[in-house]
Amino acid sequence: MTDRRSLHLFARPEGLPKDEDFEMRHEAPAPLADGQLRIAVRWLSIDPAMRVWMSEQKSYWPPVGLGEVMRSAGIGEVVESRHPRYPVGTWVSGMTGAREELVCDGKGFRAFDARALPHPAWALSVFGATGLTAYFGLKEIGQVKPGETVVVSAAAGAVGSTVVQMARNYGCRVVAIAGGPDKCAWVKDELGAHEVIDYKHEKVAKRLAETCPDGIDVYFDNVGGEILDAVLRRLKLRARIVLCGGISQYNATGVPVGPANYLSLISARARMEGFVVIDYLDRAGEAIAEFGPWAAAGKLTSRIDEVAGLDHFAEALRRLYTGQNFGKQVVKV
Ligand SMILES: NC(=O)c1ccc[n+]([C@@H]2O[C@H](COP(=O)([O-])OP(=O)(O)OC[C@H]3O[C@@H](n4cnc5c(N)ncnc54)[C@H](OP(=O)(O)O)[C@@H]3O)[C@@H](O)[C@H]2O)c1
Repeated sequence: MTDRRSLHLFARPEGLPKDEDFEMRHEAPAPLADGQLRIAVRWLSIDPAMRVWMSEQKSYWPPVGLGEVMRSAGIGEVVESRHPRYPVGTWVSGMTGAREELVCDGKGFRAFDARALPHPAWALSVFGATGLTAYFGLKEIGQVKPGETVVVSAAAGAVGSTVVQMARNYGCRVVAIAGGPDKCAWVKDELGAHEVIDYKHEKVAKRLAETCPDGIDVYFDNVGGEILDAVLRRLKLRARIVLCGGISQYNATGVPVGPANYLSLISARARMEGFVVIDYLDRAGEAIAEFGPWAAAGKLTSRIDEVAGLDHFAEALRRLYTGQNFGKQVVKV
């Protein structure tokens, strides 16, 4: 059998992650013990939070240690099995790490039917952490109601594009913020956002005033920084800000830019609340029972943006921070 490759964290990045921050290693495949399975990893989820995991920063998970396999969610096929619940041919999803192959006891993995999906990587997007983030962020933290005005940033990204569609399906008025005319056109024409703001070519504060004349009920924040500040100025009474992510700050080498306009929260009696999707994973069934039918009816879609090859992992990761990805960024292993 040929060696399997795995990608290890070699150095903590300064600014954007570089190829040299990772090291590829080769290992001979290990034999299976009773109760173990061998997973051939097919696709890896590329997530903005990876930049945080690569640093020494405190977050909801400990930093990836230098020399460790890079943390990553992934999907793959069972290619050899001594485990009764995972016969050969089963597709599984879980924290595979950035590697070609994994031998494990199956704990923490979930079997799924890849043939039932338009693309197997939908198990990482709509039917994975991406979909659950959008759903629980909107429902639990955002408490969205029909007729409300929902603003979402990074709206052509994985989570953002899902939020746009879910909010629209809940009967909200959706104002989407994305970078560039192609992304804005997709979000409006294909995903059904009512208004779009191209933050790279338009003044966000001015466009928010035009598109949200009565204010904003819910802001689903994926980016932080200046866009968050602009939104803070236009809150409606009892508005909710869903702090999902702050990608504009993840590569900052100095102190991250915080919101200057936070006092608006007082006069608007508004709430700004962070959340992490891992706290909701045990409720995935309940969430999918609600939004699964939307996907089946064509009212919830996902665009998969593939980069081929484990060697291109760092490049795929950089695409998130430079806005090159369109929809859910994955690496096809
Ligand atoms: N809280 C949680 O549990 C949880 C779970 C998953 C993800 N998240 C967060 O959700 C956010 C979106 O994640 P994702 O996986 O869906 O990634 P994504 O949106 O698919 O990709 C990131 C996008 O962010 C935009 N972006 C990059 N730099 C930016 C900047 N300086 N200002 C404004 N926009 C910028 C880019 O779009 P443009 O081309 O439009 O700029 C890029 O395509 C991230 O902040 C992530 O950390 C949180």
